[in-house]
Amino acid sequence: MSHPKPRPLTLSARGPLRGTLTVPGDKSISHRSLMFSALAVGESRIEGLLEGEDVLATAAAMRAMGATIERGDDGVWRVHGVGVGGLLQPEAALDMGNSGTSTRLLMGLVASHPITATFTGDASLSSRPMGRVIEPLSKMGAEITASPGGRLPLMVRGINPAVPIEYTLPVASAQVKSAVLLAGLNTPGITRVIEPVPTRDHSERMLRGFGAELTVEEGPSGKIISITGEAELKPQHLIVPGDPSSAGFWMVAASIVPGSEIVIRNVCMNPTRTGLIAALKLMGADITKEGAREVGGEDVADLRVRHAPLRAIEVPPDLAPSMIDEYPILFVAAAFAQGRTVARGAHELRVKESDRIATMRTALEAAGVATEEYEDGLAIQGSGGALLPGNAQVASRLDHRIAMSMAIAALGAQGPITIDDVAPVATSYPDFFQTLEALGQ
Ligand code: S3P
Repeated sequence: MSHPKPRPLTLSARGPLRGTLTVPGDKSISHRSLMFSALAVGESRIEGLLEGEDVLATAAAMRAMGATIERGDDGVWRVHGVGVGGLLQPEAALDMGNSGTSTRLLMGLVASHPITATFTGDASLSSRPMGRVIEPLSKMGAEITASPGGRLPLMVRGINPAVPIEYTLPVASAQVKSAVLLAGLNTPGITRVIEPVPTRDHSERMLRGFGAELTVEEGPSGKIISITGEAELKPQHLIVPGDPSSAGFWMVAASIVPGSEIVIRNVCMNPTRTGLIAALKLMGADITKEGAREVGGEDVADLRVRHAPLRAIEVPPDLAPSMIDEYPILFVAAAFAQGRTVARGAHELRVKESDRIATMRTALEAAGVATEEYEDGLAIQGSGGALLPGNAQVASRLDHRIAMSMAIAALGAQGPITIDDVAPVATSYPDFFQTLEALGQ
């Protein structure tokens, strides 16, 4: 799962992007599809699953805890679940690779089962804070022994029955929310999460779809999400929509390269995920939604994106939760805008697969972009549409979104940009570079 052998890649500008493309299945929904199917009794079928390393880590972990998970020749995944409460003791440590979502959500699942699991991961994942899930899961009764700083490797000794809690999220994090809700699935009584700032709501939508008793109300300090434990999940036929975070790279690519026009088909338009589109539109991007429809409980649309001159904005901080994974590519868009873009209120970027404020700052500076770093964001002086100097070596720091963002930046650079390691792209978007070729680059 880790990437011992770095794969460097050099990219240069090569003209407009044209054509129609699809992006792989949404990563958040793919993880949850496997986890919830593995907890249902009977066979679930999943179409459009993202077959990236992060999601495959979730599949391997659910297999290690008793589920049967197979990919058919038709590309449909079939999962035979063990039932809530039925997870088995894994025989070996669960290797989570690069995946924070797998780690935090599965810690929640293990917490309320009478099993013990050790979680390991690559250097990036092993540097990320797990205290934010250790705290609520410990309150529910799980015993968690972590490496210094609340990091991986760590061991979760689950407890059954666990204690239901009411937990107010101290950080806007769908992973923490989901970890508590998933622990609540096998906990007698009602487990509540209070969410002062709304984050992606795939767990809530999907758990309801699987038949769990889950309610969402507006309270005085945010959304109150209540799940009734000892749930029985019913198997489902799931269709995973395209990942808006993966689509973001092409939205920006087409926006910055003159002459481009593309259509990105089948993109998830869940309103907790569309912050990048809102920010790009504020910058003057030409993005139109076509064929809006609903697929598997999620809004989906095709997006037509044409090149347009971008102007700098102050990125509204309240967009942060709905575009938290999209800041690296938004920074690239800002590098081509007219004026100075300021994006603040995004402190969480410091604890993603890399410190995305520092990593993007260093990479953009190397490519000839003037930036200013804040504790909670970045200011970027745009080129006004002119090519960036390029001729740069940049480090992706085991972070797929940095590698892809800088690959897109290279499409608008005079000199080539060499990314030291693009192997991490396989965690979320294995076909990224093939799609880049197919779009005429
Ligand atoms: C995710 C939640 C977000 C996001 C991550 C996927 C999820 O993380 O950055 O890529 O699927 O719940 P946080 O919960 O840390 O914000």
